[in-house]
Amino acid sequence: MLKFNPHSEPVSQSLPPTILTIFGATGDLSADYLIPALLHMDEHKLLPKIFKLVCVGRREFTAKSYLDFILKKSHVIKKISPAKKARFLKHLIYYAGDFEHVEHFTELAKVLADQEKPKHVCYNRLFYFATSPQQFAAITQILKSAGLLNACVAHERKTRILVEKPFGFNLKSAQSLNGLLLKYFTEDQIYRIDHYVGKETIQNLMVVRFANSLFEPLWNNRFIDHVEISVLEKDGAGGRINFYNQTGAIKDFLQNHILQMLALIAMEEPYNLTAEMIRDEKLRVLEALEPVTKEKLLLRMVKGQYKGYVKEAASASLGTSGPNNTETFFALKTYLNLPRWSGVPFYLRTGKKLNKKLTQISIHFREPVRCLFVGCSANVLTFQIQPDESVHLQINNKIPGFGIKLHQGDLEFGYGKVFKGEIPGAYERLLLDFMEGDQRLFIRSDEIEAAWKFVDSITENPEFNKLPLHQYIPGKNGPKEADEWIKKDMKEWWTR
Ligand code: BG6
Repeated sequence: MLKFNPHSEPVSQSLPPTILTIFGATGDLSADYLIPALLHMDEHKLLPKIFKLVCVGRREFTAKSYLDFILKKSHVIKKISPAKKARFLKHLIYYAGDFEHVEHFTELAKVLADQEKPKHVCYNRLFYFATSPQQFAAITQILKSAGLLNACVAHERKTRILVEKPFGFNLKSAQSLNGLLLKYFTEDQIYRIDHYVGKETIQNLMVVRFANSLFEPLWNNRFIDHVEISVLEKDGAGGRINFYNQTGAIKDFLQNHILQMLALIAMEEPYNLTAEMIRDEKLRVLEALEPVTKEKLLLRMVKGQYKGYVKEAASASLGTSGPNNTETFFALKTYLNLPRWSGVPFYLRTGKKLNKKLTQISIHFREPVRCLFVGCSANVLTFQIQPDESVHLQINNKIPGFGIKLHQGDLEFGYGKVFKGEIPGAYERLLLDFMEGDQRLFIRSDEIEAAWKFVDSITENPEFNKLPLHQYIPGKNGPKEADEWIKKDMKEWWTR
């Protein structure tokens, strides 16, 4: 895996010549994540030395007018210097075509080949599916029928595809998408992305667990009382509300980001750091998730919706209204059928329009069996994924002075305090790995399916629609019912 270090030597030299084609290049994902990441990589010499970027969208643009359009549309790119823009334009080709028409793409094969022929350079051909999932099948057909997959075999150049989330809407659709892709590609050519896995602090989970002898002996049901994963967001569904309205918080966040974090927290130490070994271990966790039965759903889950959501969704879909049961918040208690974790509840929670943006995993150890002092508290290890990326271990200390009173304080490792410079963005890391051919941070087909199987046990549970949808006030803590629910287990949502 390439190490991203802004202060080290450029890594671009080591990457083979690459031509990256982005389908869906005019969408929000491209404007807010992909093009900003590629611009940043270009600036820091992280792109391959020989590199072309082909941006495909329906609208007509030249390379320059496309870049101007993105710069205007992006919420992320502030301003770029003319020099930076000129440098980036050297890589850029824009191609207009409608995915519903294969014939629009016959010329694209020529565009790709034309890059290679004059200089006799063979490229790795990488294709990024950054469209809505309804178009994934059409794009796969286009790749095949328009002859886009014919990379130069003589130089053993590779063809790879990167598929954005959501990967399906349930187990059945994920299986059929896997089936389709596996008809044309082998598993080692398919990169299913979950951008959370590319976050620096998520990669740190394995390091903290397996590079420190301190934690692993305690990482089991004898010492851990419960685990909490909370992803709180300040924003609402915003411009993506039409899409979000079909997924809701459970499909948008549980199936992928939250279950991936859970897998990394709960998995066994892989035999080595190859993609297959890591993914085998994550898979074992995902397969061990206890399905939520009909009897248990009402006890295990709380759903909520922020006030005003229905109106927002109705006005986004041009006034069509009606009942809207999309959850924008959920809290779920789940268990793993694994000896290490037997009886340990995992509390999982996410919501939109809450009072802060915070992603945090907390491991709550058991209280000391016998405490000599008054006021002992359980140790808590917190991974603050974002913002203020850090790791904290809460321990009991003596308050100075006469007598013995206890204070709970943190041993803290803060990224911002220890390291200078920017933390690499998840998309940069993942794009680099895609170019390099490293699948460790990408999701395998069986992981995706195991996660959907668990999510289906909730969303396709006959009791699902009977779960009350608690209303909550935007900008506050979420539904009070979620606080009352966790209190019944004698616990509270963790705040440091
Ligand atoms: C996306 C979800 O995958 O992740 C969004 O679809 C969510 O609903 C986003 O807002 C959060 O990403 P991040 O990196 O800002 O935490």
